[in-house]
Amino acid sequence: MLCQHYEHIHEGADSAFSVDASNITFGAGCLSEAGEVAKSLGIGRIGVYTDDGLIGTEHVSKVLDSLKAAGIDIALYDNVRVEPTDESFQAGAKFAVDANVDGFISVGGGSVIDTAKASNLYSTYPADFLDYVNAPIGKGVPVPGPLKPHIACPTTSGTGSECTGIAVFDLLEMKAKTGIASKMIRPSRALIDPDATLTLPPNVVAASAFDVLSHALESYTARPYTQRPAAASPALRPSSQGANPWSDLGCGEALRLLGLYLERAVSDASDVEARHQLMWASTLAGIAFGNAGCHAPHGMSYSVSGLVKDFMPDGYPKGEPMVPHGMSVIVNSPSVFRLTAADQPDRHLDGARWLGADVSDAAPSEAGEALSERIISLMQTTGMPNGLQGVGYGPEDITALVAGSIKQRRLLDNAPTEIDEEVLTQMYEGAVSYW
Ligand SMILES: [Fe+2]
Repeated sequence: MLCQHYEHIHEGADSAFSVDASNITFGAGCLSEAGEVAKSLGIGRIGVYTDDGLIGTEHVSKVLDSLKAAGIDIALYDNVRVEPTDESFQAGAKFAVDANVDGFISVGGGSVIDTAKASNLYSTYPADFLDYVNAPIGKGVPVPGPLKPHIACPTTSGTGSECTGIAVFDLLEMKAKTGIASKMIRPSRALIDPDATLTLPPNVVAASAFDVLSHALESYTARPYTQRPAAASPALRPSSQGANPWSDLGCGEALRLLGLYLERAVSDASDVEARHQLMWASTLAGIAFGNAGCHAPHGMSYSVSGLVKDFMPDGYPKGEPMVPHGMSVIVNSPSVFRLTAADQPDRHLDGARWLGADVSDAAPSEAGEALSERIISLMQTTGMPNGLQGVGYGPEDITALVAGSIKQRRLLDNAPTEIDEEVLTQMYEGAVSYW
């Protein structure tokens, strides 16, 4: 069992953690502050990144009106791909170069914010595409320096992308999801307007909320920074530094809010309080995982979404099969936490309790079951898919799912449990169906 006290520093491990605080403004109506914020960041000509599903909405209009009122020049890019690819990232970067922008604002979900991060990176420091992509798929070359200012405006309560230095995409030639991770690509500011979530369909609210739930649980149960090898220099300390006292604060409160409001926000679109609280939970979990890092449920999700067969969820754009990010994560989570609880029972019990389970009499050996049961119950009441089977996979797909995820070492190594191919196989086997 791992020792959970941060005072106990393992040999050769890090003895300090860093806090990269996100610079955010949170509250109803704050999208109309976009112009003033852009001005304060010295932006004269701004690239406005969004997608064609959002372009006609009041959220984008509010931002555009505010930028115009502040006298900012606008270059509008509404061609962001939902579930971006290396090609769509590069198209976004080319737009930034051609339009000669000196700053960015993204209005949308994780796909939009991540595309603006990558467009900012490749237009500011042009390079071969794989240079900045995480090793071993890419070269993992450090970003050379600060980027142009980027204001992120999330319109879903899930990804937390506005608070992190991570951009995720599909690498088309490998049919694999991977990402770019660097503190340098974290947005300079975030305007988080919870009113933006009031019009979201229930299935989108649920999938996003389970992404938040897993961000918080994964960050809280991640291998603590005191058990990770110290970086060669403080500047090289990764954002995914493992569980730490700062991230713990956000995880606990995010999970407590999810326990109270998740079901309400999904079942009643007019429940403004519940939807606002989910947005705050998303922000807290985003800050937490931006400083701790996720682990196995996210690592496994990459092949669950990348190998999609014919799953077409309600509430999402039709046309192409897709497993929304939150669903591709949460189908794995109960199975993962059943296995990782043996290494950190107290933290798994904390998670179950914050989510609303009664664990007053639970023994440490029951921690995994208590937490996974509580997650499964929330999945059932909010219409989430029943494990891998619910999104179109069966036991015969496990070999391919393992092969697609075993390379996600940045995430798998952040788990409290050592994960090799055999353990990963067990984790997928336990995720086939839950009820
Ligand atoms: Fe996520």
